[in-house]
Amino acid sequence: MEPIRNIKKPELKTEIPGPRSKELAIQKERYTPRGNSPGIPVYIARGEGAIVEDVDGNRLIDFTGGIGVSNVGYSSPKVVNAVKSQADNFFHTCFTVAGYEGFIQAAKKLTELMPGDFPKAATFFNSGAEAVENAVKIARRYTGRPGIIVFDNAFHGRTLLTMTMTSKYYPYKSHFGPFAPEIYRMPYAYCYRCSYGLKYPSCKMRCAHRLDEMFHTVAPADQIAAIVVEPLQGEGGFISAPKEFLQILREITKKNGIVFIDDEIQSGCGRTGKMFAIEHSEVIPDLITVAKSMAGGLPLSGVVGNKKIMDAPQVGEIGGTFGGNPVACAAAIEALDIISDKDFLKRATKIGEIVKKRFLSLKENFDVVGDVRGLGPMVAMEFVKDKETKEPNPNFVKELLHYCYKKGLLVIKAGTYNNVVRFLAPLVITDEQLEAGLSILEEGIKEVEKVKKEER
Ligand SMILES: Cc1ncc(COP(=O)(O)O)c(C=O)c1O
Repeated sequence: MEPIRNIKKPELKTEIPGPRSKELAIQKERYTPRGNSPGIPVYIARGEGAIVEDVDGNRLIDFTGGIGVSNVGYSSPKVVNAVKSQADNFFHTCFTVAGYEGFIQAAKKLTELMPGDFPKAATFFNSGAEAVENAVKIARRYTGRPGIIVFDNAFHGRTLLTMTMTSKYYPYKSHFGPFAPEIYRMPYAYCYRCSYGLKYPSCKMRCAHRLDEMFHTVAPADQIAAIVVEPLQGEGGFISAPKEFLQILREITKKNGIVFIDDEIQSGCGRTGKMFAIEHSEVIPDLITVAKSMAGGLPLSGVVGNKKIMDAPQVGEIGGTFGGNPVACAAAIEALDIISDKDFLKRATKIGEIVKKRFLSLKENFDVVGDVRGLGPMVAMEFVKDKETKEPNPNFVKELLHYCYKKGLLVIKAGTYNNVVRFLAPLVITDEQLEAGLSILEEGIKEVEKVKKEER
């Protein structure tokens, strides 16, 4: 098969979607439920680096990484080799039945990567939601308290508990209640749309101090097991909180014996140019949840944290049939090795600088780009109808994404108001591919703006 890793720009053989993708879309409708459907109407046959090839032979630049799962790139050779060699040995034993070394090696690796000068332990599950659920279980077991504090715009998953913890109602929670009890919500430092109508830094992080206030007005601190926070909110719209926000939360949780759970499922694994996004704030969490890019594309999630807290559940109280699958652990050992390499993180930071510079120039030049934010290569643009009123512009984003995939660029939205375009390309993307993708985005903004003006 012809290598596609280094192609310089999209290579389109048909219109997007092509005939074979259209056929598969018909079968998809026939055999699978509509609740779980591809947002971009292409079906993928293979991927290498930051390029995917669809079933019609179209080669597309990917700015999505399958929602942040492909930081080391599609078909990373080291990961593929590790998977093949583990597959030759065995697929599964269930770690709660009979152990295997890969689980322990992957756990050791995570404990070495987590910041903080204390003994640590790590364990594995299948999905991000499952990791968050288990982090909550561990914190409740450790503290003997029921309450959990979460944030506006948070996303933690789709199971009953994590759906409850998630903020946005449509589509994540729509008519799926009743929800889990003992979940309390506070504002996040969404400075572009401050909950208190204040401005950073003169606000003195009013939103973070809400936590102290909640102990009087909502639930006492001695009933709160944990706070679960994304250091940079992903699905919520790539909202990067000032570091003081996380520092104040950490201080208050420490004072009150509340477990600080850092949800790095989207922001971890090099996505912000550091192993974990929390490192930008120098806050040391108690527990970190990881998933997505950790196993280079295989389903694996984990909780890593302070061993004293991790050891709270007794034997048999946490685990699962597939959690820490041997093939996924073998992939994770390689993927974590690649990501934690300082040159990989340096390149990730460089990618972030290029993207942010371009996004900022788009903000300068287009009235629809209201905000540009993020850390390292976890960057996004928020689209508005008017820079003064900041009225969200989800229709513009919808049309822009449509323009992009027609030109061979896969890119996705985020945000409570569906008006954020986020950059989640594999961090092995080449300079030419990055430039080609950013140019399509820029042309798209021009084109959609032109059409919108003509419609008026
Ligand atoms: C911060 C965060 N937590 C949890 C999850 C849930 O992960 P999963 O979809 O693997 O259950 C996600 C998924 O996007 C996420 O971004």
